[in-house]
Amino acid sequence: PTRKDMMNALHYCYNGFWFCEAILEGTTTFQQNFQAQDTDIILVTAPKSGTTWLKSLVFSITCRLQYKISDKNHPLVTTNPHGLIPFFEFLYGDNKSLHMPVGKPRLLATHLPYTLLPESIKTSKCKIIYLCRNPRDTFVSMWHFRKKILLKFDPSWQFPSIEESLERFCEGVSKYGPFWEQILQFWKLSKESPEKVLFLKYEDLKGDIIAQCKNIADYLNCSFSSEEENEGVIEDIAKFCSFEHLSNLEVNKSNEEGNVPLIENNMFFRKGEIGDWKNLLTTSMAEKLDQLVEQKLHGSGLKLN
Ligand code: A3P
Repeated sequence: PTRKDMMNALHYCYNGFWFCEAILEGTTTFQQNFQAQDTDIILVTAPKSGTTWLKSLVFSITCRLQYKISDKNHPLVTTNPHGLIPFFEFLYGDNKSLHMPVGKPRLLATHLPYTLLPESIKTSKCKIIYLCRNPRDTFVSMWHFRKKILLKFDPSWQFPSIEESLERFCEGVSKYGPFWEQILQFWKLSKESPEKVLFLKYEDLKGDIIAQCKNIADYLNCSFSSEEENEGVIEDIAKFCSFEHLSNLEVNKSNEEGNVPLIENNMFFRKGEIGDWKNLLTTSMAEKLDQLVEQKLHGSGLKLN
């Protein structure tokens, strides 16, 4: 079946999730061709949940012996995080700017739900880090992001009203939606197999980034040594990957198309705050979304606020 998504773009339903045509093609090719290795690290997020931030953190943490964060030529200084950790589903097709990483561990990312991941990811010992974000801020971030892209290609694009857009988001008709299904899949898995999935929240990263950097490093079996802690390595990584620093690097200020098809590097950085939903949603819209989330997450033990 097809539907207009939350921004009026045509989307296809595939195994219960919504995709535009290009991503659907990349997804099915990826499912058929990808062979996971035990050492792979897979970052999974819903779009606009802080993927760029997570990519920069995991790259800095796992590659810190090879690349000191203070190094002027650190890869994150010259390359947007999406160029260092590609999305699987964009690796296939005619996208020449992205390549499957070489070396070990391979760092990869996806927005796909667990049920649509290739079997080899499920059966191998590779590790998954899942990051989610409060749905109010995710919706608002997505709304700004998609609006910018769609207007770029068609200045006369007819958007639905915010109310209608939210309505479709709440029906699950948004990129890779329904968003709650994806969140719940990884939440449950993180409880059943904590060695397979580390479940993180954007708001927790904002709350205590040092603790979360340690959490990530411990989970990936590359804990910070006490010497590193004394030298302030964790603080340096956190500062480097902060919104303020990362968004002000020349490479990320660039309005040239980067490593994600059709998207300029600077489009991944907008405000980077908690609570910006207040500038777009009315209280009753926010309450409607909260009610839906509460109903969907009921009994799971997960809270998203
Ligand atoms: P806002 O639109 O609310 O500002 P993704 O990386 O999944 O596409 O998500 C993009 C969102 O994460 C945007 O949110 C963006 O500003 C924010 N973001 C990007 N880099 C960040 C960072 N280093 N720290 C915190 N938030 C960041």
